[in-house]
Amino acid sequence: MDAMRDKVLKLAKEKNAIILAHYYQTPDIQDIADFKGDSLALAQYAAETKADIILFAGVHFMGETAKILNPTRKVLIPDMNAGCSLAESCPGEDFAKFKAKYPDHIVISYINCSAEIKTLSDVICTSGNAVQIVESYPKDQKIIFAPDKNLGRYVNEVTGREMILWDGSCEVHDILSAEKMMQMKIENPDATLIAHPECPQPVLILADFVGSTTAMLNYTKNSDSKKFIVATETGILHQMKKDSPEKEFLIVPSDESCSCNDCAYMKLNTMEKIYLALKNEKPEIILPNGIMEKAKLPLMRMLELSIK
Ligand code: 13P
Ligand code: SF4
Repeated sequence: MDAMRDKVLKLAKEKNAIILAHYYQTPDIQDIADFKGDSLALAQYAAETKADIILFAGVHFMGETAKILNPTRKVLIPDMNAGCSLAESCPGEDFAKFKAKYPDHIVISYINCSAEIKTLSDVICTSGNAVQIVESYPKDQKIIFAPDKNLGRYVNEVTGREMILWDGSCEVHDILSAEKMMQMKIENPDATLIAHPECPQPVLILADFVGSTTAMLNYTKNSDSKKFIVATETGILHQMKKDSPEKEFLIVPSDESCSCNDCAYMKLNTMEKIYLALKNEKPEIILPNGIMEKAKLPLMRMLELSIK
């Protein structure tokens, strides 16, 4: 495995490629990345890199976002099948019809959507800046929020808005169990409960802290608490443990008897696939120019509205 890692690093250097990794990647991939982050930080980084090649260890919509924001770079992803259930829950044609029913509304879309949905949006947000983006519009602005109903409901609650929500969700977060979280809290009364806003409402109600991947990482690092019950994807634990080796982290399971906290799409990426992608310079993200130009506008608006 170390030999493969060394081959990847050597090839990336030779080809002036940078490796970006989301915190949901396996630890070995996170550890070789030039930069790792949540969706917002990765988009910000991808927009500015001067590397010839961006190898994006994440999922397809993240690669698309990098290509749209920095179109002169070659963007590679390790596996073309690394999609996203949330992005897939919002097909372009259906969303266009939905949008047409609300002609006086603007569209704010979560970055976990296809490039096509981005072309139908006024501004994009991530879980890290959703509240900030929504609050940048006047209170009486009518808004459609897509595609994540859980994040949308959470932002409605925090901001007091009544955004119309598209009925989409993430298959990893949406099935995390509030009952199991409660049971864990009873067994670990000294633990602090933290959750990602893609989780369903009962989980968010129980949580002491709700935040994006980076916000959760910062919270566990800075908190005095020594034990955390964590409601999100398992990949985040690697960085949490690195930041705070003396603290304990327990992951909230789903109701199913499976490894459901692992995003099956994110976990399609392997060190070997990264090596092959760099060697063959494919799979490459290619998008029609028309889509890229249209999708770039709401993404740039998001970057302008976000505090770094
Ligand atoms: P963030 O990186 O914005 O926390 O989103 C989590 C996620 O589900 C990425 O696919
Ligand atoms: Fe999509 Fe959920 Fe996987 Fe993130 S964790 S990539 S939202 S399916």
